Amino acid sequence: MKVLVIGGGGREHALAWRLAQATRVSRVYVAPGNGGTASDERYDCIDITEPAALREWAIKEKIALTVVGPEAPLAAGVVDEFREHGLRIFGPTQAAAQLESSKAFSKAFMKRHKIPTAEYEAFTDAALAHAYIDAKGAPIVVKADGLAAGKGVVVAMTAQEAHEAVDFMLVDNKFGVSHNEGGARVVIEEFLQGEEASFIVLCDGKNVTALATSQDHKRLLDNDEGPNTGGMGAYSPAPVVTAEVHARAMREIILPTIRGMEKDGIPYTGFLYAGLMIDAAGHPKTLEFNCRMGDPETQPIMLRLKSDLFEVFWHATDGTLDQVELQWDRRVALGVVMAAHGYPLSPRKGDRITGIPAEAPDAVVFHAGTTLDNGELKTSGGRVLCVTVLADSVKLAQQRVYEVAARVKFDGAQYRKDIGFRALHARNTPPNA
Ligand code: AMP
Ligand code: GLY
Repeated sequence: MKVLVIGGGGREHALAWRLAQATRVSRVYVAPGNGGTASDERYDCIDITEPAALREWAIKEKIALTVVGPEAPLAAGVVDEFREHGLRIFGPTQAAAQLESSKAFSKAFMKRHKIPTAEYEAFTDAALAHAYIDAKGAPIVVKADGLAAGKGVVVAMTAQEAHEAVDFMLVDNKFGVSHNEGGARVVIEEFLQGEEASFIVLCDGKNVTALATSQDHKRLLDNDEGPNTGGMGAYSPAPVVTAEVHARAMREIILPTIRGMEKDGIPYTGFLYAGLMIDAAGHPKTLEFNCRMGDPETQPIMLRLKSDLFEVFWHATDGTLDQVELQWDRRVALGVVMAAHGYPLSPRKGDRITGIPAEAPDAVVFHAGTTLDNGELKTSGGRVLCVTVLADSVKLAQQRVYEVAARVKFDGAQYRKDIGFRALHARNTPPNA
């Protein structure tokens, strides 16, 4: 059977890579893909992004199953478009994807269904937002309502930073956020302390299957310093998600969300990613929902997945996820993102990439911002690629990943040297290690 993966990042490369190994899959198409999928004969790249055009193409090509990687096509309604024409696609509908595409929607949803999250208020009026900040004081968190490609959150350590963020978002729209209905809106919320983890599950509308736990590193520089990015590296499992935290997250966050969406008449299908903040007592709260897998979390998670991914998606689109038990490699998977010069503010494009080693059973380089230019591999985006390995411990995984990364060359390459440091010293035993 033919499958289609929508997207062109490292997450989509990793999904396509795992799907290409599935027994019943004859061909994997990626739209639009990247330099890595274009230069590998296991995949065909399709240069179509508009949902209706993709749907037409999928019908013509007799695509049996489509999986959506990024949030933008989901928010644009690609799942609705495919389903209306009888095509099998894994992802949330446009309405369900509001859990990610509108912070105001997801915060109101969590409040209504008593799902643990930071206290908050939503504002369209700047004067009221400023008054709320004055009343609450810093630290405080200001979030733009619409999709902002990871740039719509300001964790303000001073009231002045919070006031500036409100002006940026509500008055000047300096972050280029795509507004939802009703115009510019911000959510201002309580600052939460603890350790973050990515809690990602598959949903078929009713049943839920958790993926292996993971954690990413959002800051650009070592020791979690510097500006926020889309993610500089990730690993699985995440020791902070103990068996107890896992059970709590399922019971208090994931299941009430799936039941709540069903009750609200918007059944949730697709990946659901809860960004958790876990406090010192092991109580998780929801920082945000994403209606997709994480990038770069997908890369280590796919390296650990032993089950046939096509069959998993087949069940997920049949409403029979309760029949699926995912099998995981017991080893640690760890991925390091190599980013372009100038990332995240102004990534440079067009640098020639050399030295990518051939794929090994325990080391795969997933591409993201790369392109094939007259047969030459070049950088074409901020996060260029993600070197991902499997090893028996976090320490061994770090050694292996940096050995491989050192061989990959492009001008201005930047990457963190400490991915996994939080897992190195953790004493907890993860539930699915
Ligand atoms: P989000 O896009 O909502 O996940 O926010 C991006 C990052 O901002 C998160 O990964 C956290 O590091 C941080 N963040 C978001 N909300 C809060 C909060 N309420 N308290 C503390 N940090 C937060
Ligand atoms: N790695 C964070 C995200 O995908 O949102």
